[in-house]
Amino acid sequence: MKRARILSVGKYLPERRVTNFDLEKMFETSDEWIQQRSGIIERRYADEGVYCSDLALEATKDCLKNAGMKPEDIDFIIFATLSPDIHFPGTGVFLQRKLGITDVGCLDVRNQCTGFLYSLAIADAFVRIGMYKRVLVVGSELHSHALNYSFAGRDVTVLFGDGAGAVLVGPSDDPSRGILSSHLHADGRFADILKLDIFDISRKPIVSEKMLEVQHRYPKMIGKEVFKVAVERIPLVIREALEANNLKVEDVDLFLPHQANLRINQFAAERLGVAQDKFYNNIQYYGNTTAASIPLLIDDVLEKGILKEGNIVVMVAFGSGFTWGASVMRW
Ligand code: UT7
Repeated sequence: MKRARILSVGKYLPERRVTNFDLEKMFETSDEWIQQRSGIIERRYADEGVYCSDLALEATKDCLKNAGMKPEDIDFIIFATLSPDIHFPGTGVFLQRKLGITDVGCLDVRNQCTGFLYSLAIADAFVRIGMYKRVLVVGSELHSHALNYSFAGRDVTVLFGDGAGAVLVGPSDDPSRGILSSHLHADGRFADILKLDIFDISRKPIVSEKMLEVQHRYPKMIGKEVFKVAVERIPLVIREALEANNLKVEDVDLFLPHQANLRINQFAAERLGVAQDKFYNNIQYYGNTTAASIPLLIDDVLEKGILKEGNIVVMVAFGSGFTWGASVMRW
């Protein structure tokens, strides 16, 4: 069985930069508070009228350009997002339509911050069993249209940004290179800790006047609880992933963690005894882009020449659900 590897990477970030000082003008917060608690300096916001699938389209075009391929070369699409264009159908089909292709299968993955790693694991399995040769995995988020720009929502609003990252997964000709393993977890007991319950399928109608009240219209989060469980689970799942590959922490060249909070990643590095500069971060400039954060980070470290052929890379994510996971690859 051939290993699967990431053949190409691409990204898209909306042009509009929104700094902490811009947010200070909208509600009571401060650049100092945001930077101290999260590390974030600025994030990108898409304009009104833009869809999540539009961001994904641009990231896909970039990924295809880098691969020297055309949309027709894609033979399956996996789309990870928590900010879909509409309730149904899934956003994968909208991306497919915008790419001008038909027939290839589209799968939507709804695993929030871990969405990219769940999707990558599925792509890896499809490629390894020989079912598909060019699987497009896109993580795309359009958070900024669904955030509460008032005092009540400030804890969540300051953290999130828009963006999209895409990778093409296909067979690796070199058996030593590629995705080595994926380790996926979830614990539904924490499902209410970070959620957006804009509709309720048990009710008729599913969107009532009550659901449109402010407390339902925007995401809700018990931030401290997310933080506490994240800093415990992230090191655990990294150790699980390393053990599965007979690797030690010292063997890893780069850790590419989901970008939820700079402090979470710093805590995780400390708990693992890893030098902070092995944990790469770009949350300072993009905020938390949920399913897009890991492919955006891969693209950034490639662009900067940090990620090199043969490097051992550990990707890790934790978020709403709770869902979490880690994947190991040799680049
Ligand atoms: O991908 C997963 C997504 N989510 C996460 O990873 C979130 C994980 N959690 C966190 O990152 C942190 O819990 C936060 C950054 C969200 C919050 O930090 P915290 O240290 O847990 O703060 P807190 O919620 O306990 O709030 C402390 C204070 C409160 O004021 P009082 O009650 O002490 O007077 C808040 O009202 O900070 C206040 N506060 C703010 N102040 C300025 C909350 N949000 C803001 C804000 N600006 N945006």
